Formats: sequence, structure tokens, C-alpha cells
Amino acid sequence: MTDSTELFDIMRTTRAMRRLKPDPVPDELIRRILEAGSYAANGGANQRWRFLVVKDRSIKEQVQVWYKKAYDEVVGPRYANSAPPPGSSPGRYRRQHDAVEYLTDHYHEAPVWIVACMEGGDGLPDRALGASIYPAVQNMLLAARALGLGSTLTSRHLMHAKEVEEILGLPPGVYSYAILPIGYPMGNFGPVRRGPLSDVVFLDRWGERYLDE
Ligand SMILES: Cc1cc2nc3c(=O)[nH]c(=O)nc-3n(C[C@H](O)[C@H](O)[C@H](O)COP(=O)(O)O)c2cc1C
Repeated sequence: MTDSTELFDIMRTTRAMRRLKPDPVPDELIRRILEAGSYAANGGANQRWRFLVVKDRSIKEQVQVWYKKAYDEVVGPRYANSAPPPGSSPGRYRRQHDAVEYLTDHYHEAPVWIVACMEGGDGLPDRALGASIYPAVQNMLLAARALGLGSTLTSRHLMHAKEVEEILGLPPGVYSYAILPIGYPMGNFGPVRRGPLSDVVFLDRWGERYLDE
């Protein structure tokens, strides 16, 4: 095993990869990503997750319309009017915004999507249910990275969840939590940028720093 496949290195370089080539991705790799998802922690080991692999261009195109509508109406203006997050800079934030816009316009061109769903609940925000699907989603993002594939956790479609879930043909009682567009990346994997841990980790009492820097 080389250094680049070390777990910590993989985590450090699992960035949101939003510019993807339309080239097909072998089913064997998608299977490995799904297997990684299924290794994740989940409440009671109930495995109420369900995964829909979408390759059908017309389904993706229909969903993209709603994804773009949410960008035009909410996300684009929000990016344009907000300050860079911790660890970023105005230039980096601008580039992030450009990439978000690019993915919005090319969402349907990613060769494969994995739609992460859960059976149960009522489709309203539920911390317990979310906690049983997002570990699987993160495992899949890490697995994609380890296999040289790019992806991004996307959930913007939830702004139009009802319409999108109808297009996806989800049965009653099944709700989507994330869509992972997957493909070979156009750019390179690089380190993620985050604010200092010392600002967000406390010891015993809220506000008392655990780390010096
Ligand atoms: C709950 C959640 C929802 C997200 N939804 C979207 C999305 O709809 N579209 C998108 O381009 N990125 C989405 N992201 C990706 C974040 O923007 C990304 O993780 C963040 O910018 C950090 O990127 P980095 O790891 O490359 O630094 C989402 C991330 C999370 C955790």
C-alpha cells in the first residue's frame, strides 16, 4: 500500500469534485463504492438505507431542472452575498462558487449517480434518520476518492424533494437524503481547507479551548 492510499491521506484529499468527465465508470467500481457504504455505522444495525444507482440520462436531466431551479432561486444568490467560510479566502470562495455553478449546469452529465435513501420516517428533517445514512454517504465519498473517482455530497434537490422523488420513482415511505454524482475528475485531488480546530474544540466547558492552535 502506498502513502496515497493511506486512510488519513484519503480523508485529507476527499474534496468536493464538481467537474467530472462524462466517461463511463465501470460497474465493478460502483459496486465497491456501494459496499463501502454498507460498512457504515447505522442505528440498531437496521440497515434501512436504500441506494438507487441512476445512469438513465433522461431521469438525470429531469432532476437537473429542479437542482438548477434551487440554484437560481436560492443557492446562487446566497453564494453571491455571503462571506468566505473559515479556512477559505475571497478568491477560493469565488472558485468554489464557480465550481458549484458548473456542477449545477452539468449535474446530469455525471455518468453515474448514487441516490442515498432511507426507508421510514415522514420525509421531514430527522436527526436520528440522517445519522443512519450520512456515515454511509461519507464512506462512499472516501471509497470513490480511493478509486480515483470524483464526487460531491449534494442535497440541494431536497428544496424540491417531492418533485425530484417522483421523478426518481421512490416508493411511498422511502426518502432521499443525498445524491452523489460520480465520475472521473477533470482536475486533481487536493487537500481540503478548513478553519483551525482550536476554534471549534472545547474542553469540559463550552468556550474553553482544548487545543492551542
Ligand atoms: C449536507 C450537505 C449538502 C451539500 N449539498 C451540496 C449541493 O447540493 N451541491 C454542491 O455542489 N455541494 C454540496 N455540498 C458540498 C459542500 O459544499 C462541500 O462539502 C463544502 O463546500 C466543502 O468542500 P471541500 O471538501 O471541497 O472543501 C454539500 C455538503 C453537505 C455536507
